[in-house]
Amino acid sequence: MNKVYEIKGKSKINGTINMQGSKNSSLAIIVASILCKDVVMLKNIPKIQDVYELIEILKKINVKVSFIDNSLLIDSTNIKYTSLLFKQIIRFRASYYFIGAFLSLFKKVEIYMPGGCKIGKRPMDQHIKAFNELNVNINIDNNKIIASTTSLVGNEIVFDVVSVGATVNAILASVFANNSTILKNVACEPEISDLIEFLNKMGAKIIGKGTSVLYIEGVNKLNGITYEVMPDRIVTGTYLIYGALLAKKLTIKNINSKDNYSLINTLINLGTQMDIKEHEITIYGLKEFEKANIKTDVFPSFPSDLQQIMTTFLFMGKQISLVEETLFENRFGFLKQIKKMGGKFFIYDNKVLIIPSLLKNSIVSCEDLRGGAALLLACMASDGTSILKNVEYIERGYEDIVNVLKSINVDIKETMMYEA
Ligand code: UD1
Repeated sequence: MNKVYEIKGKSKINGTINMQGSKNSSLAIIVASILCKDVVMLKNIPKIQDVYELIEILKKINVKVSFIDNSLLIDSTNIKYTSLLFKQIIRFRASYYFIGAFLSLFKKVEIYMPGGCKIGKRPMDQHIKAFNELNVNINIDNNKIIASTTSLVGNEIVFDVVSVGATVNAILASVFANNSTILKNVACEPEISDLIEFLNKMGAKIIGKGTSVLYIEGVNKLNGITYEVMPDRIVTGTYLIYGALLAKKLTIKNINSKDNYSLINTLINLGTQMDIKEHEITIYGLKEFEKANIKTDVFPSFPSDLQQIMTTFLFMGKQISLVEETLFENRFGFLKQIKKMGGKFFIYDNKVLIIPSLLKNSIVSCEDLRGGAALLLACMASDGTSILKNVEYIERGYEDIVNVLKSINVDIKETMMYEA
């Protein structure tokens, strides 16, 4: 028996959503918390599978954790070096932040290669380059990474590719390094700024937040603090796209509207009506729209994490749309499922031409987190009742999604399905 969602399409969305905390920010900040070997209280942490996996890892390295409502207390006073050869490491991508953190704490780490959504090759060359330049010896052997250093030494590192993960790892490995570190061509995603704000509040010295160059002066010690993580801009974007297609009126509260600038711009160009405030947006669904041409790229461009959901939305346009994916080469994989629902499209290279199509109800299966959220939209937009399988992918990033959708009038229920 497997958990599935049963969704009756064409409900009119109506109501208010209180935004959850950011998954990607939480994952980086939770790992960064252990650097202080003290007590940290994190607020606004989403109750999602990736966070639960991370908590299991923390417990195995002798960190005390208490997660009540959305507040996570992390006491790493008695943290103990352990080889990170746990099954949880291979279940999500951000587990590789332990490499940077362990090098800072213990000068060594042994860890499984990270897992995460299979949305592309996802190389780690930029992480390795940064570690090498900080005086780390690193070997990859049989799905295991083994790294060590006599001492972390600051350096000037110029990334060849803008990478969120490599930027986080380089920051985590530099906060205590001897001398100072300059990181150039870093990711400017808001989640990186949130991590920097958190580390600086603990006592780190990092200058350049929100820009492509960071200057990090090594410090000796960090202190425990209380910190509230930023709202999730990808979940915000997901619900905005759902709303643009299906809402009578949808209000999303506790957000940073500026973090969704690119999506908002796209929706406005399509004719969507929105009341935009600094921390709240009300959106009214479109009666009809023509088309959009989208190209994903690093922040502040259109986020790759919203591409699949936007692509699904564009099937409902009146004209042919074009979407180009520049970050993750497998992020069109979910379209196999959309095809089952009657979606017509033409993929060439890293682009897809989306042909206006009437989607019909079907049994479809999630293959990754955001692709799952895209299929959910397809089910909500089609006639009749659909079944969505492998919904665990969606639950890795969307807190309590079934109840959130029910609360805004979507006809959805969680049920069990027998499969031979
Ligand atoms: C993070 C986010 C993910 C988001 C992505 C891009 C987390 C946990 N995940 O993923 O949700 O979709 O940023 O915004 O925060 N690359 C290299 N070499 C490297 C590292 C990356 O070539 O060493 C390439 C990747 O293949 C990709 C691009 O750089 O084409 C961006 O990847 P990156 O920013 O590293 O993504 P993640 O950190 O994995």
